[in-house]
Amino acid sequence: MVKICCIGAGYVGGPTMAVIALKCPNIQVAVVDISTARINAWNSDTLPIYEPGLDEVVKKCRGKNLSFSTDVEKHVAESDIVFVSVNTPTKTQGLGAGKAADLTYWESAARMIADVAKSNKIVVEKSTVPVKTAEAIEKILTHNSKGINFSILSNPEFLAEGTAISDLLNPDRVLIGGRETPEGKKAIEALRDVYAHWVPVDRILCTNLWSAELSKLAANAFLAQRISSVNAMSALCEATGADVSQVAHAVGKDTRIGPKFLNASVGFGGSCFQKDILNLVYICECNGLPEVATYWKQVIKVNDYQKTRFVNRIVSSMFNTVSGKKIAVLGFAFKKDTGDTRETPAIDKIFNDMQKPAFVFDGRNVVDAEKLRKIGFIVYSIGKPLDDWLKDMPAVA
Ligand code: UDX
Ligand code: ADP
Repeated sequence: MVKICCIGAGYVGGPTMAVIALKCPNIQVAVVDISTARINAWNSDTLPIYEPGLDEVVKKCRGKNLSFSTDVEKHVAESDIVFVSVNTPTKTQGLGAGKAADLTYWESAARMIADVAKSNKIVVEKSTVPVKTAEAIEKILTHNSKGINFSILSNPEFLAEGTAISDLLNPDRVLIGGRETPEGKKAIEALRDVYAHWVPVDRILCTNLWSAELSKLAANAFLAQRISSVNAMSALCEATGADVSQVAHAVGKDTRIGPKFLNASVGFGGSCFQKDILNLVYICECNGLPEVATYWKQVIKVNDYQKTRFVNRIVSSMFNTVSGKKIAVLGFAFKKDTGDTRETPAIDKIFNDMQKPAFVFDGRNVVDAEKLRKIGFIVYSIGKPLDDWLKDMPAVA
């Protein structure tokens, strides 16, 4: 029986391993973490993260071929394939602070694997890492290997929070990068066999290590770039009387462009886009490519501009000051729909209790602006034709 261990029981490691366990009953899957609180939660009725469908998958497999444990070393030592899914935040100090990925957790995981391994292992990079990380990890593993063979693979995760289980069950593609040596190819085959339990083989892409590492950063940069592009258009829409939803719809109908990820917003959030683009920018700078770095940096700049623009719109509309005024933020989550206020009768109640003029600033185009206007609100919807009030109170970004 193949044994898999995943170091890091977070947003990526937990759901990914749960789905592997579900689809591969012949594989024993252990998810390990240094955080006792996190592991206790994974073993309880209240999982540490919420993802639609996750509870059911974990309940089906836990106690059968899926386990959660803090005994990191034991499970790593026993496994044939070790996924590393530890956090890689942006560095806050030292070389590359504010841009480069902090690989501290990665390095300590790699050193621990080398320490405890007593048999050959495939080590899989699951967390998003800078290009060429595999080379550094390989060095740590082989220089401390005591004669054991390690094959390193890059298998970046493309799931999005909120849709993790359906993304994992039905992925657009699975990407596996490895060395182009006989051992490297054997390791790729072994991991491909795992995914082939449920993913059609034509969706399992095999590449070299560097292509796999870079593809993850590139995919997130392209997705974020689409959002910054439509957000830049939203500012122009407001200035001209165009409606960003209509423009995005018309643009997205071009099959070469496509309709997804063209929703104007108050800016993208989440734990990936900003971090990965900053990382990409840093890698470009380190490789002597300042023009390429500037190009991608602009995606972040437009995102910052969009956030500032939204706040400035709020302040200027309310007579250039918000001091002493109370502002309610509906939907504090980073994604649309989690704070959905459509059809809620509470809004009319809210209106009566509010100081007049009463405003709603919609940074996601999720509220029914016409309904709110009928109630009496002044409504700002990002990228949409402006109410007269807002035209009279121009915001400066
Ligand atoms: C993202 C990628 O989608 C995923 O493939 C990768 O593995 C991790 O990063 P995630 O950050 O979980 O996933 O969520 P996503 O749905 O991509 O949303 C990111 C941000 O972009 C959110 O703040 C969202 O509201 C915003 N967004 C998304 C927009 O503003 N407009 C859009 O059209 C789409
Ligand atoms: P992601 O969103 O990428 O999954 P998270 O921060 O949610 O990231 O999860 C990463 C997990 O990795 C955390 O629970 C953290 O405790 C764990 N972790 C970090 N370093 C180690 C390590 N050396 N050994 C075991 N677990 C680790």
